[in-house]
Amino acid sequence: MQIPLSNPDLTDLEREAVLDVLKTPNLSLGPKIPEFENKIAAFAGTKFAVAMSGGTAVLHTIIKALDIGEGDYALTTPFSFIATSNCLLFEKAKPLFVDIDEDTYNITPQAVEKAYWALPQKKREKVKAVIYVDVFGVPADGPGFERTASAPYEGPGKGAADSTAKGTGGQISDRLHIIDDSAEALGSSINQRRCGSFGAAGVFAFYPNKQITTGEGGVLVTNEKSIARTARSLRNQGRDEGAGWLQHARLGYNYRMSDINAALGIAQLERIEEIIKKRRKVKEMYDGYFSKIFDKGLLIPQKTPTASFVVPFVYVLRLADRFGRVDRDRLLDYLRSEGIQCSNYFTPIHLQPPYEELGWKRGDMPITEKISERTVALPFYNNLKEEQIEYVFQKTAAFFKQKF
Ligand SMILES: Cc1ncc(COP(=O)(O)O)c(C=O)c1O
Repeated sequence: MQIPLSNPDLTDLEREAVLDVLKTPNLSLGPKIPEFENKIAAFAGTKFAVAMSGGTAVLHTIIKALDIGEGDYALTTPFSFIATSNCLLFEKAKPLFVDIDEDTYNITPQAVEKAYWALPQKKREKVKAVIYVDVFGVPADGPGFERTASAPYEGPGKGAADSTAKGTGGQISDRLHIIDDSAEALGSSINQRRCGSFGAAGVFAFYPNKQITTGEGGVLVTNEKSIARTARSLRNQGRDEGAGWLQHARLGYNYRMSDINAALGIAQLERIEEIIKKRRKVKEMYDGYFSKIFDKGLLIPQKTPTASFVVPFVYVLRLADRFGRVDRDRLLDYLRSEGIQCSNYFTPIHLQPPYEELGWKRGDMPITEKISERTVALPFYNNLKEEQIEYVFQKTAAFFKQKF
């Protein structure tokens, strides 16, 4: 049996939606863009949405719109896709990595506050943002991060994240923007609020392995008019709204999404509830099989926080601590030899060359490094069949039986 890692789920109606655009003269800067944006904003629960060429473009635009630049820092996670941090390097700002929570694989407001207050004052003053990720579709503590940025500071160890008081603006809030990189979490929510809607701005991404796809694409969501306005200009070569084709108010980019992509996104979003059900069902089936090995302590599942709803992005197993990287790589090789596409997810960002050049090294983020060495992403997509899931389980179980 051959099983791919991911496989987009497209209907004939969705293909027709793309063809319909191709029959019009509006392949770009046409009506499908605002239509898609309005639908995504309504879905996420934000006032504004700005469609772009990809999630990386969205992240870069947010950094620019928040005026984060040379000499500035952002606290962020090393356990993510590299774009989460690269957007800072694009602007000569730097990430300050905070290690993740062992159970959810997300950074927490408590750890971020601790890292923030441990910085020397001069450096702390240069911290402009927290970029957190809802990793694999599991929501991070968005409400807690919002409190971090808005509640008055009460002293080290008495972090705002632990307080339920509504903030009135304190030492942190003057400077700290919260950015919700929910590129992997369309449809997930925490405390009844959708991922992406927290903080200054959020990110969705639509590469074909995501919850919905536009081929390539991303959307910035925000409640801040000024961020939306700046983002619209930055994505369109620095043109202000209504300005002429050759009037560029600021340094901009071509980060536009085409109407062809947007039409696919609109059609996919039409059946988001069905997509959510399918993805949750696939995860449930996997959990059903793998719980037998979880029980034996061979594998550890990623935990989800209370009051959260998860629309999974991928299905990632983690080998128990007594195994190591060599065992994990042997499992990857074995599954591949049995026709099962799989991958390690993620390689820690701080250990990639552009970040090692900044001085980050192995040992700096022990939890991230431990988990990264033990993860295996299995085939995961809407139309994965039970017999395929059973096959993946049986091969994984056989590996453990043979080798250990
Ligand atoms: C957490 C996260 N952020 C950002 C991105 C970048 O999105 P894109 O590939 O659309 O540029 C991804 C893509 O996989 C991602 O997973």
